[in-house]
Amino acid sequence: MDPWSLVYEGFDPEREGLREALCTLGNGRFATRGAAPEAVADGVHYPGTYVAGCYDRLTSKVAGQELTNEDMVNLPNWLPLTFATPGSEWFLAGTAGLLRYRQELDMRHGVLHRLIRYRDAEGRITSVRQRRLVSMADPYLAALETTFTAENWSGPLRVRSALDGRVTNEGVARYRDLRGDHLTRHATGTRGDLTWLRARTRSSGVEIVLAARLDVSPDVAEPPELERHDDLIAETRTLGLERGRPAGINKIVALTTSRDLAIADASSAASRRAELAPGFAELLERHEIAWHDLWERARLEVTGARIQRDVRLNTFHVLQTLSPHTADLDVGVPARGLHGEAYRGHVFWDELFVLPWLTLRFPEIARGVLRYRLRRLPEARAAARAAGLCGAMFPWQSGSDGRDETQRFHLNPRSGRWTPDHSHLQRHVGLAIAYNAWQHYAVTGDMEFLAGTGVRLLVEIARFFASLARLNPASGRYEIQGVMGPDEYHDAYPGAPAPGLDNNAYTNIMTVWLLLRTREALDLVPRRAREDLCRGLGLTDVETERWEEIARRMRVDFHDEVISQFTGYERLAELDWSRYRHVRRLDRALEAEDDSPNRYQVSKQADVLMLFYLLTARELRRILDRLGYPPPPGVIRRTVRHYLSRTCHGSTLSAVVHAWVLARTDRAGSWQFFTETLTGDLTDVQGGTTAEGIHLGAMAGTLDLVQRCYLDLEARPDGLHLNPVLPQHLTTLSLCVRYRDAELCIDADPTRVRITRADDGPPALDVAVHGHHARLRRGDSHVFPLPERRAEGEPPGPGVPP
Ligand code: BGC
Repeated sequence: MDPWSLVYEGFDPEREGLREALCTLGNGRFATRGAAPEAVADGVHYPGTYVAGCYDRLTSKVAGQELTNEDMVNLPNWLPLTFATPGSEWFLAGTAGLLRYRQELDMRHGVLHRLIRYRDAEGRITSVRQRRLVSMADPYLAALETTFTAENWSGPLRVRSALDGRVTNEGVARYRDLRGDHLTRHATGTRGDLTWLRARTRSSGVEIVLAARLDVSPDVAEPPELERHDDLIAETRTLGLERGRPAGINKIVALTTSRDLAIADASSAASRRAELAPGFAELLERHEIAWHDLWERARLEVTGARIQRDVRLNTFHVLQTLSPHTADLDVGVPARGLHGEAYRGHVFWDELFVLPWLTLRFPEIARGVLRYRLRRLPEARAAARAAGLCGAMFPWQSGSDGRDETQRFHLNPRSGRWTPDHSHLQRHVGLAIAYNAWQHYAVTGDMEFLAGTGVRLLVEIARFFASLARLNPASGRYEIQGVMGPDEYHDAYPGAPAPGLDNNAYTNIMTVWLLLRTREALDLVPRRAREDLCRGLGLTDVETERWEEIARRMRVDFHDEVISQFTGYERLAELDWSRYRHVRRLDRALEAEDDSPNRYQVSKQADVLMLFYLLTARELRRILDRLGYPPPPGVIRRTVRHYLSRTCHGSTLSAVVHAWVLARTDRAGSWQFFTETLTGDLTDVQGGTTAEGIHLGAMAGTLDLVQRCYLDLEARPDGLHLNPVLPQHLTTLSLCVRYRDAELCIDADPTRVRITRADDGPPALDVAVHGHHARLRRGDSHVFPLPERRAEGEPPGPGVPP
């Protein structure tokens, strides 16, 4: 197996949507699904092009309700290109007499190849080779090269290329009752050799322009036949094919929007960029250089071609969604990439799984994502105020301007019913933002970031959670009531008149972590700057003293020496697992039976166990001790066991967390979760969802597992600490990270770790491996022998207790 490529042989209409998602090409500014250029959305194919941060809001009427949703907009399709031999219909993969059909995603170069051999009704055999790119060098350009060879005939071949604005958002079947006609005011035209198409989003008023240039070789004398409508422009060229002699058409396209920087207007920018764009070969060369640089920075080498390929596939899609180009944009982390319309391109808490990997590789991209949040602080503050609270209440789902975009009703495709959706009560999203802000500082040591973006986010989020926590005089404890934890199967107590749960352990404990960390972050900022910051934020000692008090008296519930997911969890019934053993979306199955997961001790995904994912056992124990809940011996292990056997992994994020939590105590189990998450989108583990977009959190989380979890890599104030214990299947691991502005290359095998510093960064850096410290100067290399591999279950690991 070539560890750089994903190959599909044959045309498989059933799996076309999945392949389109996995063959998406993007550059962090925009992406286009790997759809066949000759196809329109027809139930098999779904061409989709999405620009990061391009949203539009529409109101629909469903189930007697008016619902307003903001969608990441499916933009006009730049791909269309088809062809016809004399007297035949336009080529379409599904109907042509295919002799060969092959698609290959070349991840090293960021190119999608397609090879078609087909025979028409007259017996003429034509081979068609296509290469496609969405430029990583110039984020406004994309190109499609098509080369035709008439194998047993000579004659004219008609080639039709179009820009198609007749697209809507209809990529997700269960949203089809909702409006998807986001584009309006279409117009088309020509300018010199270019064709162009313009449209505008209905409510956000973003203008989108495509301009295309066709480079034909050998050149044809006749002018193109033009077909022009308001929402589609096509040009047809006739190539004179000679048997065995390749001839080609290259389509070079610029995609601009009125939100772009450095433009006068989107129309002139598109034309200008398409005019100035070089030919395909040069575009490809520049694109390959850009990818080469990215791969250098993203290097993560593991043993085994298949695992390596899958690691690269995940890396590739993360970087296509979040690239150095994204750092310049005002966008967050769309949960499903720029690869499809699931979750409407919304931004959830998934950056919690994405930023740790990015921060250690591409800190500028991670910083950009945190700034997306910072810019939406006013909206988050307004939301907190409207709820009678203080600080910043970041919304569970965010889009363009940081308003809460969470839907209030959702369709259960299993029962056909629209039911209330309370997931907006997942206040913990703010904790994820704060955690990332802190981690970013811990890894980069960037004081400018901490004193600017970092502390502002931390303080406003800390304020919010502190205001959410109320003292219950009866228990003498601070409590957080009426929220949801990460486990979306629990949104209310059975039979309760209002949604929300009390004292979700993850939320409460992470709130304590946040309040402590925020104070620590403030203390790190130089005094003058800190005083200015506190004055600007109106932060007083009275307020921080209250934080201190909450951080000593927050409530956490336990049952049977296990941390309870929330107050009263132990009173829930046990599910009859024999009936639902392999059902991932238990919520849908139970609702269809007029039942609800709220009644059972069952989780969609890791909730309490998130604590062991984010905090080391040491940190967690310290928090529990400080709260006056000295953890009984074995509490973490019992807690893991309890929830593990009651979780059905209805979210792809769940396997990431479980692989992490089991990394030291059950290495075989951890590896199983690791491979599930590594191949989750390739195998479409959630049964049909990948076609609607990749699962970005799981993809990046998998990379982070290899990097941070299996190396047990932690940025501490006194340096970078590693305690590697590689899984049996990963006998070598080689990667580079950026730590405190320096590049460190780490090569590990079961017996030793070599850490080599590049020539950049501060004069000296401290690293420690299994407690052995070394000070590395620029260019230094140090080998740390590893202790004998210890028996399973012995040593403490990332988040796992002894
Ligand atoms: C998960 C959430 C996640 C969202 C977007 C849901 O299925 O339960 O935790 O944020 O998907 O990925």
